Amino acid sequence: MSSEHAKNIETATRLVTAGRRKEWTQGIVNPPVWRASTILYDSVADMRANAARDTHHRLFYGRRGTPTQWALADALTELEPGAEATFLYPSGVAAISAALLSVLSPGDELLLPDSVYDPTRGFATGMLKRFGIETRFYDPLIGAGIADMIGENTRAIFMESPGSLTFEVQDIPAIVAAAKARGIVTLLDNTWATPLYFPAIEKGIDLTILACTKYVVGHSDAMLGSVTTTAQYWHQLRSTSFALGQVVSADDAYLGSRGLRTMGVRLAHHGKSALEIAQWLKTRPEVARVLHPALDDCPGSDIFHRDFKGASGLFAFVLNGGDDAGRVALLDGLELFGMGYSWGGFESLATPMDPDRIRTATTWQAEGPAIRLQIGLEDTGDLIADLAAGLDRFAAAGG
Ligand SMILES: Cc1ncc(COP(=O)(O)O)c(C=O)c1O
Repeated sequence: MSSEHAKNIETATRLVTAGRRKEWTQGIVNPPVWRASTILYDSVADMRANAARDTHHRLFYGRRGTPTQWALADALTELEPGAEATFLYPSGVAAISAALLSVLSPGDELLLPDSVYDPTRGFATGMLKRFGIETRFYDPLIGAGIADMIGENTRAIFMESPGSLTFEVQDIPAIVAAAKARGIVTLLDNTWATPLYFPAIEKGIDLTILACTKYVVGHSDAMLGSVTTTAQYWHQLRSTSFALGQVVSADDAYLGSRGLRTMGVRLAHHGKSALEIAQWLKTRPEVARVLHPALDDCPGSDIFHRDFKGASGLFAFVLNGGDDAGRVALLDGLELFGMGYSWGGFESLATPMDPDRIRTATTWQAEGPAIRLQIGLEDTGDLIADLAAGLDRFAAAGG
């Protein structure tokens, strides 16, 4: 496909065509699983010549990948207009830590939203601190006010929108504008929206991160992460990631490519079902607030409607009074919702969430205990019946 034509095609088409190169697959539709460590050379001269060349998209040694990994990385890049390239990681957390290490040095300061995924917080306050990088936490709703937090040593601003657990939607354009005015690098954990609902590079983000474990893989059976970036940051991201020895197995990359092809239809279904269930929860007296970015209860929902092309399937709700025992009664009796970490698979999940234990820059105030839901691909009537029975158990427990 000519690059001019490629620029103009719709996202749904791009999801089908992205990353597929006949010279890698010889015409096989999905990239075959090329497992490799050693790559054999014909001669010393051949080996030396190869070592002297750029290894991007060139077989060199297993850690630099094979067409199986390149196909997924390229497909993710093609979903981000304006991006240069993508590096793959064995988990979302590995992607986050490599992205941060690629842009920060001792003496730098990082700004993190108070709503950030807890392991991202832990990496910053633990390992980054050990290496002389300080972190300050900001109110995720700070918007343009971030300019007042930027100090002499501030080097990077990290965003996650909506925030893990509590779903505040950040004013990314305002934060990006403030960062650009001071030459500060911006990073976004875009796992919830994916490039389909928030094309991060086009919106001015420098490094966009996906826990591909969630919607890209989509079937709860592989761990995977990615960082997609611009020409300005690609070489430092790549060399840092090589130095860290980051590589994804061909089998997991294959599962990522396979999942990606159906991510659009899955996301549309997750999004529609999640909104229907969120709206139903809002009608229930046992529920105080529903933290779904498309609903008014959710802080920043006006920004969501302005900036996002759609919503995925993860949201939360706050119970109206009651205590943990009532919440446990609700959760333990659920039949269709599984209980476990992660999200983005085909199956629904429900987990208790307690953000007050995590926050440092803001306080979490809630009318009662809270629950996070990942809405899968089941029938919404069945899921609502399961939740209705759960809310009855909560009420019976005195909630
Ligand atoms: C918002 C967000 N970012 C990153 C991650 C980390 O991804 P992984 O579990 O693949 O390390 C998660 C995992 O739950 C997440 O929810």
